[in-house]
Amino acid sequence: MILLPESLSAMQKYEKLEKIGEGTYGTVFKAKNRETHEIVALKRVRLDDDDEGVPSSALREICLLKELKHKNIVRLYDVLHSDKKLTLVFEHCDQDLKKYFDSLNGDIDLDVVKSFMYQLLRGLAFCHSHNVLHRDLKPQNLLINKNGELKLADFGLARAFGIPVKCYSAEVVTLWYRPPDVLFGAKLYTTSIDMWSAGCIFAELANAGRPLFPGSDVDDQLRRIFKLLGTPTEETWSGMTQLPDYKPFPLYQPNMSLSQVVPKLGNRGRDLLQRLLVCNPMGRMSADDAMAHAYFSDLNPAIKNDRC
Ligand SMILES: Nc1ncnc2c1ncn2[C@@H]1O[C@H](COP(=O)(O)OP(=O)(O)OP(=O)(O)O)[C@@H](O)[C@H]1O
Ligand SMILES: [Mg+2]
Repeated sequence: MILLPESLSAMQKYEKLEKIGEGTYGTVFKAKNRETHEIVALKRVRLDDDDEGVPSSALREICLLKELKHKNIVRLYDVLHSDKKLTLVFEHCDQDLKKYFDSLNGDIDLDVVKSFMYQLLRGLAFCHSHNVLHRDLKPQNLLINKNGELKLADFGLARAFGIPVKCYSAEVVTLWYRPPDVLFGAKLYTTSIDMWSAGCIFAELANAGRPLFPGSDVDDQLRRIFKLLGTPTEETWSGMTQLPDYKPFPLYQPNMSLSQVVPKLGNRGRDLLQRLLVCNPMGRMSADDAMAHAYFSDLNPAIKNDRC
């Protein structure tokens, strides 16, 4: 028996303002707390078997996420569960990184790239140290504020609810940020998944919003990855051929240097990118190590020392 965290319905406690967006699990609204007037983001979660109510395992997972408090993580203030419906109450942010990219017109300040990447890694390091994975990092799940803060959204939801193939809005879930191990059907989820996604997002940041591997399906996704990084072999990635959905690919050589892929990043930035984009999950850099990389040695100290 688990204690239900809340008896008031979301509608009683919050006044819905406008719809902000739609994602994998449901619709997000901007809303105002009727008592405190605080602005929040309400996420009404739709589950595949909505009639069955919210599984207690999912509820338990979600309630744990309320304890995940860090300035680079979007705060989950509240979990409202009533009438078989689940509404998550999040800290509200100004916009997501995808919308920010759309406003850039193809040009981005390299100090902003560095600051966003550092904050992304700091949020990841915190969650990973609490054994929470994201598993679905993408620019839409990175929220930013006008003052330059970046926060990771939707941490832990994939574990609680699973990642469906189709979004609530019937859009297909993007594969662009998935690592080759997951694309080959690996079921053992580790922090290295998020580090691959962080690498893809780093390249996208450096290119002002041009995605690194915009694959159209699993095959195309893997082909794009291997064409850039070279096709892994059992020598470079022991156990790859045993993965559930493994299939052989042509043996591409790593033929494109990263300087062509991320021309605006300097040597240090490219080195960091190379250490994140490693096909073998065992070889991928951790968030802690990435934060200590030389690329960040000239990071604005105000950002580096911003303790939570
Ligand atoms: N806390 C928030 N503050 C401001 N905007 C938000 C917040 N949470 C979500 N949004 C906006 O709503 C959109 C939809 O959110 P949602 O998380 O449901 O979908 P998604 O991020 O596109 O995909 P996923 O469901 O896989 O996370 C986001 O892309 C973002 O623009
Ligand atoms: Mg999201």
